[in-house]
Amino acid sequence: MVRQPGEGRGKVEESALRAPVGFLVFAASLRAASLNAKLARLAAQEIEACGGQADLAAMRDFDCPSYDQDVQDSGKVPPGAVLFRERLERADAFVICSPEYNFSMPGVLKNAIDWVSRMHPQPFNERHGLLMSASPSLAGGNRGLWALRVPLEHLGARLYPEMFSLAQAGEAFTAGGDIANPELRTRFASGIRGFMDLVEAAKHYPCAKRQWIEFPGEPGLPAGQAARMTPGR
Ligand code: FNR
Repeated sequence: MVRQPGEGRGKVEESALRAPVGFLVFAASLRAASLNAKLARLAAQEIEACGGQADLAAMRDFDCPSYDQDVQDSGKVPPGAVLFRERLERADAFVICSPEYNFSMPGVLKNAIDWVSRMHPQPFNERHGLLMSASPSLAGGNRGLWALRVPLEHLGARLYPEMFSLAQAGEAFTAGGDIANPELRTRFASGIRGFMDLVEAAKHYPCAKRQWIEFPGEPGLPAGQAARMTPGR
């Protein structure tokens, strides 16, 4: 269905127009009062309101003992890693709301990524991802997202260029769990919608997908050749 810019942007119209796309959404925090879990809940709600299917998960479900190659070689992959891979594979894309720990990602997330990175097929490969963060600091945890991009890009995830970081997050939510600042709320929603459009195009409209994979200026290549441009695969 061809849409003009700005057309069909009401919530009802949006869900009617969208071809099926599924998103795994989770916060990389174990604590009950997590600010990132609030943001993840909001992201899942926004996805559903825009016609997508959101699978809202808890980091606790994906938590694993520290990666140990001997354990992996013995075939005892932790249940958290198995579930993480399954939920990733069920989705077309993922949204991670990650705290920033010491300018980087929390160990619990890196550890879970390390475990699933040893599985075949490796579930981040060619899967679209959107990164978000919330932090009491003025930077909103954004520096941690840059660190998180490194392993995910390495694993072949197609990370959305825009990221959303909610600063001073302790005071940024309404009592109902929404983002209080209207401008930030709009930016949050439009970022999610842009990401959904891209995932939908890549899944359902192969011409758009091929154009996006090729380097700018490259003449049209058959899809198989375009895939070879991704290093290491
Ligand atoms: C933090 N915090 C933090 N915040 C930040 O903006 N930059 C940072 O580098 C760090 N570093 C850091 C390290 C460790 C070990 C902890 C426990 C915390 C604060 C952090 O952003 C804050 O606790 C968030 O509320 C954590 O996210 P959740 O659990 O609320 O989602």
